[in-house]
Amino acid sequence: MKLQKTIPIWMMRQAGRYQASYQAIRRSHTFEEILHNPAVAAEVTLNPIREFGFDAAIIFSDILMVAEALGQQLTYIEGKGPLLAPALMAEPSWQFQPQDFQVESLNCVYDAIRQAKLGLGETPLIGFCGGPFTVACYMLQGHSGLDMRKIRSWIREFPEKFEQLLDVITEASILHMVAQVKAGADLLQLFESSAGQMSAYEFSLYGAPYLKKIIDAVRAQTSVKIALFCLGIGHVRNQVLALSPDVVGVDWMQDIGGFSHDLPSNFVIQGNLDPLDLFLPVEKLGLSVSRILDCVGKRPGFIFNLGHGVLPGTPESHVKAVVESVHAYK
Ligand code: CP3
Repeated sequence: MKLQKTIPIWMMRQAGRYQASYQAIRRSHTFEEILHNPAVAAEVTLNPIREFGFDAAIIFSDILMVAEALGQQLTYIEGKGPLLAPALMAEPSWQFQPQDFQVESLNCVYDAIRQAKLGLGETPLIGFCGGPFTVACYMLQGHSGLDMRKIRSWIREFPEKFEQLLDVITEASILHMVAQVKAGADLLQLFESSAGQMSAYEFSLYGAPYLKKIIDAVRAQTSVKIALFCLGIGHVRNQVLALSPDVVGVDWMQDIGGFSHDLPSNFVIQGNLDPLDLFLPVEKLGLSVSRILDCVGKRPGFIFNLGHGVLPGTPESHVKAVVESVHAYK
């Protein structure tokens, strides 16, 4: 791995619609085709490294691939987002068993990792999966724009069924994460993007125990570092620290200086530029970057990232400007 003289930077959703190169590939391939085509997925993974000089690549895939491997049909509707069918909330008779997940059904992801590694040289590659709660919410509703009132009401009505679903997703995620490392992933990230949609108590029931199971099992089988990103980490921060991820993702809503002050130095912090700030005029954007660096730039291991994913329509020149100013920081 590269010896880092500057602060490392990568961005969640660094491969995606804001890039002209991605838009060009999407004119000839659907989203699902890219997910299932290792050569194209590897190309899409490499483009942000070539174009912006990020210090890590993240494999182009989706957290919903695990839902697909469990038997739901994944399609991407233009302008609407991903669709998983049948939606489990509308199918009261569903039953999943851990053996429903065959890790080989995600071979396209592992092949994409192998191919991406060939083009990355020293740049590390991040593998990932979704947090079980987040994946389960998409599986229940079947499409994006989660109606959490409806989903949380369903969970209250069928808590045992929900736990059974979380168990199955957790077992599948462990196999998927370990297989990504075997294929060449150098680091792993868990995306619990719906963490902020749960109460702290719900997180203690449906978030933390399953994330812990994944972290512990992956640690027992591999030696790679694990980052945990919870969107809306504020109210569950102590529960997250108790899971002892190597890297703690800080979302854009949080005061990263306060986080750094409270976190023991064995935790590496990653974050937390507001994705909307990338739309600011470059000078103001620079101030947002400096504000973060002034707080945590000297913290050992600090990794610069966004506080959530890059938004479509983000000016590419602004992404480049952020990478350059983070690398120029002394
Ligand atoms: O560059 C990268 O970060 C790697 C690729 C990646 C994608 N999705 C590609 C993608 C990663 C890490 C994800 C994670 C993901 N997917 C999450 C967790 C992180 C987060 O953003 O909260 C979630 C909740 C999903 C599920 C998902 N996939 C949604 C809700 C959507 C629709 C919203 C959107 O941004 O369009 C997707 C589609 C998706 N996943 C796209 C990409 C590039 C857009 C597809 C396209 O239009 O071509």
